[in-house]
Amino acid sequence: MRAMQISSDHPLLLRIVDELAEHGWSQQNIFLPMDLTRALAAECRKRAAEGELAPAAVGRGPTSEIREAIRGDRIQWIEPGQAPACDSYLALMDSLREAINRGLFLGLEDFESHFALYPPGAFYLRHLDRFRDDDRRTVSAVLYLNEAWLPQEGGQLRMYLKDRGEYDVLPTGGCLVVFLSGEVPHEVLPATRDRLSLTGWFRRRGNEPF
Ligand code: OGA
Ligand code: MN
Repeated sequence: MRAMQISSDHPLLLRIVDELAEHGWSQQNIFLPMDLTRALAAECRKRAAEGELAPAAVGRGPTSEIREAIRGDRIQWIEPGQAPACDSYLALMDSLREAINRGLFLGLEDFESHFALYPPGAFYLRHLDRFRDDDRRTVSAVLYLNEAWLPQEGGQLRMYLKDRGEYDVLPTGGCLVVFLSGEVPHEVLPATRDRLSLTGWFRRRGNEPF
């Protein structure tokens, strides 16, 4: 697949920036072309089959631990140069990063992202995406990779929004949800089938000492 070049003033990206500025979150049901969504889903499944996805930890640094009573997904971080589909996605998210910086002056420096697979019954309890000891995560972006998801299959992302209360998103392939990491509590409800996503965070520069 040819690496995708999307300019940071593409109307779809500007719409996300506007909605983030106005409401603190944005949902785009048709964010990615279906072939790229399928290629990313295939990459996630391949990594799962090869045993590369590992149980996700809660927290960061020395205090992080695996606690399936809080989150039961298995993850693997993506890096540039691993797969053309991942590189296309990273290029697109870099354009979104520029668009957000231009519109919201957030000074986002980088984007970190991992595949996540929730097996049937796995969930992630209500949380904020900002660590107590690390506040660099500023904007969260979740891309779903599942074909033809049905409401009765569960697996909703439930957000607790200031402007409209409890709000559920089905993890349907190609849908992107973006929100301010420190302001939107959310959870992942258990599903009856594997639930695949690519979850990432735009980060600001940290305030570490020298
Ligand atoms: C997370 C998370 C939401 C989702 O990984 O922090 O909240 O819908 N994911 O997968
Ligand atoms: Mn989260």
